[in-house]
Amino acid sequence: MIKISPSILSCDYSRMGEEFENMKKCGADWLHIDVMDGHFVPNITLGAPLVKCLRKCSDLLFDVHLMISDPLKYAPDFVKAGADLITFHIESDSPVEETIDLIRSLGCKAALSVKPGTPVEEVFPYLDKLSMVLVMTVEPGFGGQSFMADMMPKVTALRNEINRRGLDVDIQVDGGVSLKTVETVAEAGANVLVAGSAIFGSDDPKETIRLLRESAAKYF
Ligand code: DX5
Ligand code: ZN
Repeated sequence: MIKISPSILSCDYSRMGEEFENMKKCGADWLHIDVMDGHFVPNITLGAPLVKCLRKCSDLLFDVHLMISDPLKYAPDFVKAGADLITFHIESDSPVEETIDLIRSLGCKAALSVKPGTPVEEVFPYLDKLSMVLVMTVEPGFGGQSFMADMMPKVTALRNEINRRGLDVDIQVDGGVSLKTVETVAEAGANVLVAGSAIFGSDDPKETIRLLRESAAKYF
């Protein structure tokens, strides 16, 4: 099942509530909320108190992408704030299994992400406990970067492993996903598409979301 998750990193932060409401009207499935701590990545975005306020503006699934060094410490704050799905990085400083278990024990879905330099096989031991794996298609930290097509073998290897084990795990791609690259990621096996600049920079976000979904659906 294809899911389109607009990255709010590219929205107008002075009118975030409206932007969230508008994304639902435009047909988005999820909202991708990028949390950066200025340590794991060289950029700072937002924290749990803002997510809590934004929760009042949307009933879409909150897909919270933690690009932070210590997800074990902060994940509970984001669950309390209203996250439905928390993705953290396998390269973070937190113990992986303990962090997954904590997120799930709080009633939230857990996902793991790999940066471009990390082999995707590193997530395989945890797949049974994950609802999604995020394969980064840029170095995390900023919107509007160029898509890294050389990450596609990782997506395909992951899809093959998920199928081989008969698991129900989504594969998300994040970074440079657009109408130009959507077929490449879907063909490789990704079914959850994050797009920031491609959607918020579009003159017609509704049509862009429709086209992203239609293009990806050909492969599923
Ligand atoms: C980058 C973030 C992405 C980013 C994607 O570190 O994780 O979610 O917003 O932006 P685009 O789609 O513009 O590459
Ligand atoms: Zn992201």
